[in-house]
Amino acid sequence: VKHGVGSPLICIRDERRGDEFAISSVVQRAYADVAYSDHREHQMVDRLRLGNPSHTAVSLLAEAQSHAVGHVLLTHAVIRDGPKSVPTLALAPLSVVPELQDRGVGSALVRAACAKATALGHSSVLVVGIPRFYDRFGFKPLSCYPITIPFAAPAAICWMMELKPGALDDVRGQVQYAPGWLDH
Ligand SMILES: CC(C)(COP(=O)(O)OP(=O)(O)OC[C@H]1O[C@@H](n2cnc3c(N)ncnc32)[C@H](O)[C@@H]1OP(=O)(O)O)[C@@H](O)C(=O)NCCC(=O)NCCS
Repeated sequence: VKHGVGSPLICIRDERRGDEFAISSVVQRAYADVAYSDHREHQMVDRLRLGNPSHTAVSLLAEAQSHAVGHVLLTHAVIRDGPKSVPTLALAPLSVVPELQDRGVGSALVRAACAKATALGHSSVLVVGIPRFYDRFGFKPLSCYPITIPFAAPAAICWMMELKPGALDDVRGQVQYAPGWLDH
């Protein structure tokens, strides 16, 4: 997929074998100056992707002139209510290298990741991230749903999007992330 985002031209593609180091480095650089970050997001990505690849649903790389400049990861999660559990996807982390931020790369990655997840038949995507960014893609505040996350986070940064209309009708419970997601 080619996205014209001003200059340079960005190409978004699936992660391939051999991309591990580039992805880790993009994630580390993206979060280096983020005040609320623990600067260990790249370790989480390595843990989730390399520890058990089956936890990954979508992992996309954004490249400019064949250099990795952005990455997004969607991992499998479930919304658990007693014995019932409904599959969902957790979007995290989302990373754009500092020199290319604010030029549409992050938005292109979110759109491409959600489109891919929809094409793969997934029902919904959850993100605990930043305020005022995710609504433009169709995410709604998580507080619209009777769904909780297993840690404290400001309501303004918690978002959920149905990929299939009605997918979250009658769904309630607590999100359970892939093993390794929370251990950092
Ligand atoms: C957040 C991030 C992925 C956005 O990607 P990007 O390519 O810079 O963003 P885009 O150019 O597609 O979109 C720009 C919009 O994002 C908003 N944005 C960027 N960082 C933001 C933040 N920390 N909080 C809220 N909004 C933010 C910008 O204000 C801009 O909004 P506008 O279009 O209303 O002016 C990128 O800036 C990044 O990697 N930041 C550091 C890591 C991080 O904080 N990740 C959190 C993701 S949950």
